Amino acid sequence: CVLLYPSLSFSFSLFLCVSLVIMAGTVLLAYYFEYTDTFPVHVQGFFCYDKSFSKPYPGPDETSKVPPVLVYSLVTAVPTITILAGELMAFFMKSEGTQEKTIVTADCCYFNPLLRRIIRFLGVYSFGLFTTTIFANAGQVVTGNQTPHFLSACRPNYTALGCQSNLQYITERRACTGNPLIVASARKSFPSKDAALSVYSAVYTVMYVTLVFRTKGTRLTKPTLSLTLLCLAMLVGVVRVAEYRNHWADVLAGYFTGGAIAVFLVTCVINNFQQTKPPPLPLRPQRPESVLGMPMVALPCVESPLEKLSGPQVRGGGG
Ligand SMILES: *[C@@H]1O[C@H](CO)[C@@H](O)[C@H](O)[C@H]1NC(C)=O
Repeated sequence: CVLLYPSLSFSFSLFLCVSLVIMAGTVLLAYYFEYTDTFPVHVQGFFCYDKSFSKPYPGPDETSKVPPVLVYSLVTAVPTITILAGELMAFFMKSEGTQEKTIVTADCCYFNPLLRRIIRFLGVYSFGLFTTTIFANAGQVVTGNQTPHFLSACRPNYTALGCQSNLQYITERRACTGNPLIVASARKSFPSKDAALSVYSAVYTVMYVTLVFRTKGTRLTKPTLSLTLLCLAMLVGVVRVAEYRNHWADVLAGYFTGGAIAVFLVTCVINNFQQTKPPPLPLRPQRPESVLGMPMVALPCVESPLEKLSGPQVRGGGG
C-alpha cells in the first residue's frame, strides 16, 4: 500500500494508508449492521399487556414526519456545505489564523492548504458519522430494548401464551405473530440512531462554526446558526418520541452518544493534527471561560486563538 505512492514521503503514505484502512473498516462494519443480519438482535421478553410497549404502530420509518432519507440528507449536506463555505471564506478573506503553510509531502508535490483543511474536517466528520452509526446499531442489537409500539407490531396471542395478568413475563421466542421484519425492527430502540446522528452532526458543525469562523461580522450569525442547528437536532428526537418510535431514554442516550463522539473528535482528534507541525509556542494558561477548556482546534496560529474566540465574540452573541 505504501509502495503505491512512491512520490510521497514514507510517513505521509503510511498515514494515508492507515486512515484509508480504518475508514474502509468503519464503513464496512456500518454496512454489516445496517443492511445484513450478521449481528442478530437480542430477543427480550415482555410483560403481558405492558402499557409502555402497547402504543399503536405508527407505520414504517419512511412514513414518519422526519423520514430517514431526510435525516441522512441533512446530516450529510449541512456540515459539508458549512465546512466548504467556512474554509473558502477563510481562505479568500485571508483571515488570520486559518492560513496554514503549504507542506511539502515529496520533492515534487505541494499539498494545497485549503484542500488539506477541507479534507481533514470532512474526513474526520465522515469517520465520526460512521462511528455514530455503529455505536447506535450495536447498542440496539445488544440490548434488544423494544420500541413503544412493540406489542402492536408483535401481536402476541395472549390466549395461547396463557396470559392471566400483566405481571406475567413472556420469554417464549416465538410469541410474536406479526410480520417478522416489523417485529425485528421494533426490537431496535436503544439508543435512537436518528437522534444520535442528528446531534452528532449538529454538535460537530456548531463546534466547527464556533471555533473556526473568525471573520468579523459573524458575531450574531454564529449563535443563531448554532442554536438553530441544535434545535433541529433535538426536534428529530422529539418527533421520534411523539410518533411512538422511541422512548425518551432512547432519545437521550442517542443525544449523548452523538454529542460525545462529536466533542471527542473535535477536541482530541482534530487537535492532534497539530503535533505534526513544528513545535508550537508555549500555551497560555487556560482561562475558566475558555470555550472547551482546551487549546484550539486545528489552528496553526498558536498565538492566542482562544483570546479572540471566547472574548468579545461570545459576549457579543449573548447580548
Ligand atoms: C390463539 O391461540 C389459540 C389457542 O392456541 C387459538 O385457538 C386461537 O385461534 C389463536 N388466535 C389467533 C388470533 O391466532
